[in-house]
Amino acid sequence: MALLFASPDDDPVAWSAALRRRLPDLEVRVFPDIGDPAQIDCALVWLPPPGLLARLPNLRAIFSLGAGVDRLLEDPTLPPDVPLCRMVDPSLTASMAEFVLLHVLRYHRDLDVYEAQQRRAEWRLLLPKPPSATVVGLLGLGELGTASARLLRAHGFGVVGWSRTRKAIEGVRSFAGPAELPAFLEGLSVLVCLLPLTPETRGILNAALFARLPEGARLVNLGRGAHLVEEHLEAALDSGRLAHATLDVFAREPLPKEHPFWRHPKITVTPHVAAYCQPESAAELVVENIRRLRSGRPLLHLVDRARGY
Ligand code: NAP
Ligand code: GLV
Repeated sequence: MALLFASPDDDPVAWSAALRRRLPDLEVRVFPDIGDPAQIDCALVWLPPPGLLARLPNLRAIFSLGAGVDRLLEDPTLPPDVPLCRMVDPSLTASMAEFVLLHVLRYHRDLDVYEAQQRRAEWRLLLPKPPSATVVGLLGLGELGTASARLLRAHGFGVVGWSRTRKAIEGVRSFAGPAELPAFLEGLSVLVCLLPLTPETRGILNAALFARLPEGARLVNLGRGAHLVEEHLEAALDSGRLAHATLDVFAREPLPKEHPFWRHPKITVTPHVAAYCQPESAAELVVENIRRLRSGRPLLHLVDRARGY
């Protein structure tokens, strides 16, 4: 059995070793050294070149190295009948929850305000509030949203979440569906986006949504760049409707050097690094799915292509 590995960001040597340690008979081929495409049974990919997977005539499964599969689904040549599985992994989940906590703590303790004051050499104290005074709203309560909600609760923050279907997470008020979005947004100190990019969620971070947030709320977008209407964010920051934003994902990545977000005093930019999986941990899922493929059992974490996630 041969697996094709293709990712511009993940380490092929570490991945090959982690896979081969568990499945010594697995042949791992690293893009662009594909060899005979007809010999490849499955592919482990992140941002593969469009059209690559369509060139593999005997492909039986696609394993995404990312939790989000929007870029794969955007490729019109993606083989329509090959099962697509997304990454669900404890190391990825933990790194996302850690990143969410980091930015919520930063806003809770007003570091964005102190950074602006430092630029003016201004000594002004904002007395710390208890964590319960900061209410965090999570758009998306899936694998990553749920883990983030639990970590935030453990630190004493107020937490509410919004998803398609209602959730039962201890200490977290759950809102479901478009009708409950306005009530979810009321009273939030920090809004964190952890949604998948689908036709329903594209552009969801827009002026109408910002208008429902309390004046001076902060935004953290860790989902996808296309969730955000960029001009609406700039207007909301200029008017003070939003106090600050942290953006890890962008409509165009890498974010072009001339993009105004790089220099905006109220925006923190990180280069799509909120969460990555560690091969040593994440290889477990890939190997389990290869075993299932070999024995004809159902694959884990199959993407519902019609739903888009
Ligand atoms: P997931 O387990 O599939 O969870 C997605 C959540 O979004 C679910 O709670 C789902 O609701 C909700 N949702 C989807 N469409 C919705 C809609 N139209 N209205 C309301 N709620 C909706 O996904 P995940 O593993 O948590 O990952 C989420 C996203 O994070 C990924 O798709 C990716 O875009 C992003 N991500 C970013 C990074 C980074 O480094 N920046 C890293 C990893 C992932 P239901 O539960 O009701 O279905
Ligand atoms: C990263 O963005 C992922 O989807 O895992």
